[in-house]
Amino acid sequence: MVNTTLGIDIGGSAVKGALVNTDTGELASERIRKVTREPLKPKEIVGLIATIQKELKYTGPIGAGFPGIIRHGIVCSSANLHKNWVGEDLPALIRAKTGQQASAINDADAAGLAEMRFGIQEAHNYHVVLFLTIGTGIGSAIFLDGKLLPNTEFGHIEIRGKDAEYRASAAIKRIEKLSWKAWGERFTEVLKKYEFLCSPDLIILGGGVSARFDAFSKYLKVDTKVVPAKLQNLAGIIGAAMAAKESL
Ligand code: BGC
Repeated sequence: MVNTTLGIDIGGSAVKGALVNTDTGELASERIRKVTREPLKPKEIVGLIATIQKELKYTGPIGAGFPGIIRHGIVCSSANLHKNWVGEDLPALIRAKTGQQASAINDADAAGLAEMRFGIQEAHNYHVVLFLTIGTGIGSAIFLDGKLLPNTEFGHIEIRGKDAEYRASAAIKRIEKLSWKAWGERFTEVLKKYEFLCSPDLIILGGGVSARFDAFSKYLKVDTKVVPAKLQNLAGIIGAAMAAKESL
């Protein structure tokens, strides 16, 4: 019998979910995507999670990745979602709405876990790995000998008076209509700061832009080896399911 868990990726513009085979990292169902046109409040997002669960006719543990700090299930920051999230117990809300067991971790931590396990195999040859996911914000996950240090928030490190993610996220590239060259130069500045702060041996770039790595990699002028993630946009869903499987 296939070992499947529902993984949910809560993002700034959509809530996505799919059943995940946590032994292989493959999806065991279609991926369902519910677009959100404004920063939704907790009740509304949890409603979408329950809709995804119902559409997939699923019962069992649910793992959610959230774009903010999550400490023992409690949301401690919410940069790009509704401020009402702060202080909420996300697993408890999901449990109350769906009747299923639930767990929650930071979205970049989830994506990083999936990438380390099912994505770039060579990542395990490195001592310190910095995984970044570039989308509405910049998410980070640091691995020391394959073990995650949760809740690093490198997207909020200040560069030229602004949070890194307000200078060089994928959303900013789109909003400011930056060329790959202009964005690559800004992102180089961000990576240089990260290099200085944690001396990674390898940097993995995930999120939507990782699919366009060939277009911008020549503009990244850093000393550390930088590689694109393999799982791309599915990593968040896969990692959230893995975390649920491990913690529940
Ligand atoms: C949040 C992080 C999150 C990242 C990517 C940032 O704004 O603070 O927690 O991982 O966006 O979604």
